This record gives sequence, structure tokens and C-alpha cells, in this order.
Amino acid sequence: MTITARPLHPLFAAELSGIDLRRPVDAATLAEFIAAMNKYAVCVVHHDRPLTNEEHIAFSSLLGPMERGDSPKVKGTDKRVPHPEIIDQSNLDEFGEIYDDADRRMIYKRANRQWHTDMSFYAVRATYSLLSAHMVPPQGADTELADMRAAWDALPAAMKARVEGLTAEHSYWHSRKTGGGPDPTEEERRTRPSVRWPLVHVHPGSGRKALYIASHIERINGLSEAESRDLLADLMDFATQPRFVFAHRWRLGDVLIWDNLCTMHRATPFDDQRYRRDMRRTTVRE
Ligand code: OGA
Ligand code: MN
Repeated sequence: MTITARPLHPLFAAELSGIDLRRPVDAATLAEFIAAMNKYAVCVVHHDRPLTNEEHIAFSSLLGPMERGDSPKVKGTDKRVPHPEIIDQSNLDEFGEIYDDADRRMIYKRANRQWHTDMSFYAVRATYSLLSAHMVPPQGADTELADMRAAWDALPAAMKARVEGLTAEHSYWHSRKTGGGPDPTEEERRTRPSVRWPLVHVHPGSGRKALYIASHIERINGLSEAESRDLLADLMDFATQPRFVFAHRWRLGDVLIWDNLCTMHRATPFDDQRYRRDMRRTTVRE
């Protein structure tokens, strides 16, 4: 064994040593890494300096087909990080300056402070996200993650029976709106139509059942609007109880990897008008 995993929480999440994501990784080490991900769902690897964009992309591409695209889709804005594989999760514009408080790009970043899983609003979903720390504010801005397998296991039997077999509509625009954003235009809406997923599925990596919920859900199908809203709120509250949550305190050079098919996560507040936070994400898809 090359990789050593140190558990960070009773239910999931581990810190890995014996692997350096900046260097080529051989097949045996990659298999150990994937086994650790299947078991822990969230892994952190520390480095003494941030990964370059190229190193970040090179390691991520070992894990499957990568998401490529521009995000967020706000017209007339240039990209600070010129790699289609990298989603800029910073509070910085193309000149490296902090976004204005009311800038739509800032508002959309803050939408990440709602519990979610990445890209459940796409027909081809995200498997792994790899978030890399380039600048970390002195306080706040932890990333919190919750284990949806453990949440499913602990769900009362009556609730399990109620949600098994139900499906939900996931929409990018829904979480932008609930996160404080404006109503999308019809044209914007058409760029990302909602998609339907079961509320419960088998997590491929571990074979365990998991809740598949997110702030992107606008509606549980087959229920009235009020029933849908209440059930979703109950599930969210249950699944994000402190006992299911791990909070990652960032250090420069950290890479945090999570499995979107069995976890949720959220950003936490910091003084985003005063401090720079430069986080970059790659995303691997089914
Ligand atoms: C993400 C995300 C949370 C954070 O990159 O997908 O939700 O703390 N990030 O930046
Ligand atoms: Mn996210």
C-alpha cells in the first residue's frame, strides 16, 4: 500500500498521505486512491504549494471524462482562469479584483452556501469534484460536507418507505434564485433545462444506498407543491444534522475531493468584500 488514510470523521472523510497529486500517479496508486474515495467519499490531500492548473487537470483526468465549459454563464465576462476544465470558484474578477457585493457572479458564488451536490442539474452528472486552494482567507470559508449514505442509513423506516421510488426535478436556475439571484430570462432557462433524478439511489462506488438531494431540487414529482416543499425541507434538515457533517478548514495547497453521488457540500461565509479566496475546481462526469 502506498496511500495511508487518516479518518477525519466517524462516518466518512479522510486525509490521504503517500500520494502527491502534482506528480504522475501509477495504476496501483490510482486504484488505492479510488478505493479510498469509495470508502470515505471525501478525501483531502495536502501540498506545500497550490497545484498548477495543468497539474490539477492532469490528475483529475485520470478519474474519468471531465466537465469542460464556461461557468458561470454571465454574458460579457472574461475568464480569469483560461482552462475550460477549471471552474473558477473564487470571488475574483478577470483582473484578480474582488467582485462588487451586487455583482451577479458574486451572488452566484454565494449560492454555493446552500447544501448541494455538483451538477445534479445535468443529464450527465458529476462524479468527483476536486477543489484546489490557491488563496485562503484568514477566517471563515470552511467547506462543509455531509454523507448521504449515512443519512440514508439513519433515516426512519417510515421515511425510507415514503421517499423510495420518488423522483425530483433538479434545476440550476432554482438554486441561483433561492441563493439570492434574479429570475433567469427565458433564454437563460433554455440553456439549462431541469432534469429528473430519483431521490434515493445506489452509490456506484460503495454499493450503498444514498439520498440524492440538493438545493437544485425545485420539485418532488407526484406531490403537491406544499407536500414537495415540506418533504424536501425535512430531508434536508435530517441529512445535514451535525452528526453527518465534516467541516474542512482550508490550507493553501489543499486539494479536497468529494464524490457527488453520495455527499452534499456547501461553502460557508467569510468576509468576501475584504479577503480574496481563490479556489479552483475540476469536475469529473459519469
Ligand atoms: C464547489 C463548491 C464550496 C466552497 O466548488 O462546488 O460548492 O467552499 N465549493 O467553495
Ligand atoms: Mn459545489
